[in-house]
Amino acid sequence: MSKRVAVVTGANKGIGLAIVKGLCKAGFNGDILLTARNEKLGQDAVAGLKSEGCKNVIFQQLDICDQGSSLKLKKFLEEKYGGLDVLINNAGMAFKHSATEPFGEQAEVTMRTNFWGTLWVCHALLPILRPNARVVNVSSFVSKKSLDQCSSELQAKFRNKDLSEEELCLLMGEFVQAAQAGDHTAQGWPNTAYGTTKIGVTVLSRIQARVLTETRPGDGILLNACCPGWVRTDMAGSNATKSPEEGAETPVYLAMLPEGVKEPHGQLVWDKTVQEW
Ligand SMILES: NC(=O)c1ccc[n+]([C@@H]2O[C@H](COP(=O)([O-])OP(=O)(O)OC[C@H]3O[C@@H](n4cnc5c(N)ncnc54)[C@H](OP(=O)(O)O)[C@@H]3O)[C@@H](O)[C@H]2O)c1
Repeated sequence: MSKRVAVVTGANKGIGLAIVKGLCKAGFNGDILLTARNEKLGQDAVAGLKSEGCKNVIFQQLDICDQGSSLKLKKFLEEKYGGLDVLINNAGMAFKHSATEPFGEQAEVTMRTNFWGTLWVCHALLPILRPNARVVNVSSFVSKKSLDQCSSELQAKFRNKDLSEEELCLLMGEFVQAAQAGDHTAQGWPNTAYGTTKIGVTVLSRIQARVLTETRPGDGILLNACCPGWVRTDMAGSNATKSPEEGAETPVYLAMLPEGVKEPHGQLVWDKTVQEW
């Protein structure tokens, strides 16, 4: 049987790095690919973890905004492992409150990483998931808060159990267009680029889980979105309430759900608890 393998995106620092460490400490029995877009930062992070006793951590380059990079990783996984057992889509970005870029630009850039980047990684890697694989898309509680700020028409669309991936992509595109035109709030969107991209990640997870249930029934694959909490990282700053290790707890819990467990699947999970969407 091939060796098991886990992939964590955006893992050179912050929650991603803590997730890799958490998987290792939780006894993931296989290789853990710490991926990062910057090779030096990724290699340094691997060296740090190895010095802490995480021997099964390996670096692989991955820029989630570069579709070629995801396809290269897919090829590597197929050739070396014959599939993928755990995928944690953690990489993400947010503009600081002090950012001076126009809102339309912030919307486009944030959407490219958080939504499109995550989607491209999934398009490359979900087809090679092995039975009993676990997929965790790191979203945020902000997705729920932002959903509540959408018009009732948009809320109904985002809660629609039959929404397709194509329809969700169109909606994310419409938000960016509206943001660039300066009338996103008039069109019923919340006034947050980050929050809207995370609505996209949570809804994408619900759709992906439904599709997996339909196309691979009996394979035991579980896919969820999660919120790590408010975590002290470069993104959230030093006032946040959780350490990166605490922020990694829910993603690691979802990634390590034992074989035979049927749920959660297609949920937004926060503090290891399913949230109402
Ligand atoms: N911190 C919080 O309170 C909080 C709360 C809810 C959700 N989250 C989510 O948790 C995840 C991790 O956030 P964090 O707080 O750990 O942030 P962070 O410290 O800023 O780390 C973000 C990571 O994502 C990577 N990244 C960004 N764009 C990338 C790309 N195109 N390709 C590959 N990697 C990329 C960064 O790489 P570089 O070092 O190269 O930039 C970095 O490794 C994000 O999805 C975030 O939205 C965080």
